[in-house]
Amino acid sequence: MAEKARIAVLISGAGTNMAALVYASRIAGCPYEVVLVASNDPAAAGLAFAAAEGIATFALPHKGRTREDHDAAMEAAVLEAGAAYIVLAGYMRILSDGFVERWAGRMLNIHPSLLPRYKGLDTHARAIAAGDSHAGTSVHLVTPELDAGEVLAQIAVPIAPGDTPESLAERVKLAEHQLYPRAVADYVSRWRDPAALLARVRALALALPETEERESHGSPGFRVGGEKAGRFFAYFADQHHGTPHISLLARTGSMDELLNLVESQPEVYHKPAYYGASGWVGIILNRPGVDWDEVAEWLARSWRAVAPKRLTRLIDAADAF
Ligand code: GRF
Repeated sequence: MAEKARIAVLISGAGTNMAALVYASRIAGCPYEVVLVASNDPAAAGLAFAAAEGIATFALPHKGRTREDHDAAMEAAVLEAGAAYIVLAGYMRILSDGFVERWAGRMLNIHPSLLPRYKGLDTHARAIAAGDSHAGTSVHLVTPELDAGEVLAQIAVPIAPGDTPESLAERVKLAEHQLYPRAVADYVSRWRDPAALLARVRALALALPETEERESHGSPGFRVGGEKAGRFFAYFADQHHGTPHISLLARTGSMDELLNLVESQPEVYHKPAYYGASGWVGIILNRPGVDWDEVAEWLARSWRAVAPKRLTRLIDAADAF
């Protein structure tokens, strides 16, 4: 099994979500481990829990410090612990934009509402006051705008007659304790999940003009140019012929180019069996930190190599502006 993803959990209070994350991480096969629990409140109950579990802790009151300084100290502790992801679990601080941007795509939060409804505070009271049938919880990516990043997972929780914000909060937390460990595990595994990788490639490939998906020798392939005259410009290869790679096969200009790429960046490129002979390169997707803009460029280039003139002419004309 691949190495576990190292996560730092930031808390301000009880830390029950953090505890759920910790215990889920102790189940065999969990793809992450909690390497640090950090708080802006040295008295947070969750810190004592983490210490008892043998997890490194860090606490620094925010009072008397600027937001930037406090964030910088928290971030330094996270880096020191070697964490690759930051998981916010009841961390009651607004983070500075720079901090959030540096961790874009690697910072998650859990929010007690069915986002996009009820961003911010007092979510349960607001849901009850609005007469909603359900409250709930959402796990989302953190972006500079509060509670507005991509939602990764949600659970709805019915609002019962006579529910108070407190009684509802308690039931929502039960749901959160199930949701958060699963959402974090799925998220840190995304980079090696063939279905997630294919979905991403498919979205990019089908965004190019006049493309369609068609299976070829059992693999998803992408074509341009219509039903009959169409040609393949990309294939999605999931661990073909004994390789460990999940890769996008795209057309290079020549065998020399292909061999150069494979030799100079063997962690990014490989020479695929069979296809390699005709100059197709494999761009390895099941590795952390894939540059998806580069993947999109490969797709566009490969598309352009086989697209009919009537299509490339339009694009060339557009490029000329
Ligand atoms: C949770 O309800 C979470 O959704 C919100 O803060 C609460 C934290 O609870 N962001 P706990 O400290 O994990 O018990």
